[in-house]
Amino acid sequence: MRLAIFASGNGSNFEVLAKEVATGCLNSHRIACLICDNPKAYVIERAKQYKIPTYVIQPKDYPSKAAYERAILEKLAQEKVEFIVLAGYMRIIGTTLLTPYSQKIINIHPALLPQFPGRQGIQDAFDSQVAETGVTIHFVDQGIDTGPIIAQKKVKIAPNDTLETLETKIHQVEHDLYPKVLAQVLAD
Ligand code: GRF
Repeated sequence: MRLAIFASGNGSNFEVLAKEVATGCLNSHRIACLICDNPKAYVIERAKQYKIPTYVIQPKDYPSKAAYERAILEKLAQEKVEFIVLAGYMRIIGTTLLTPYSQKIINIHPALLPQFPGRQGIQDAFDSQVAETGVTIHFVDQGIDTGPIIAQKKVKIAPNDTLETLETKIHQVEHDLYPKVLAQVLAD
């Protein structure tokens, strides 16, 4: 299947997925392109290393969210994208994209949804002093981190964890879980 990955920042999840497409559990699929809304994002460098076409498309260049998403749709059509994987894409997907890709967009969130949705899932769990948090992979709907849950994995918060050690643990779980769950979803 031809995938598009949407990302806004560092891109560690993007890189894990690119590796698994190259030689691992996603090797029957292809990353057709990276869609990025931030020209300074490190994920763009990672995509270059993997020779994955990148489109930097910024909302500020369009009169409305619908027009911005239509510009994305144009690239997705050009690249014959069949499935969208959000990996640190910091925007809410609007109906312009959701309608043609209904049930074909997934996201990874660094908390056990429905707990701690939004931009700061790791920090919010840490600040709340819960005993455990985790990672959620879910289908995307029009809400903020509200779509049907596909998979979750718990991560314990140890008394001596700092925000940084917790972030490291969460990212390790993400990197292990996302390729496997994506492979399963694409097989179904
Ligand atoms: C991850 O923690 C993911 O769960 C969240 O954004 C972060 C992206 O990290 N949606 P990276 O850019 O893949 O390193």
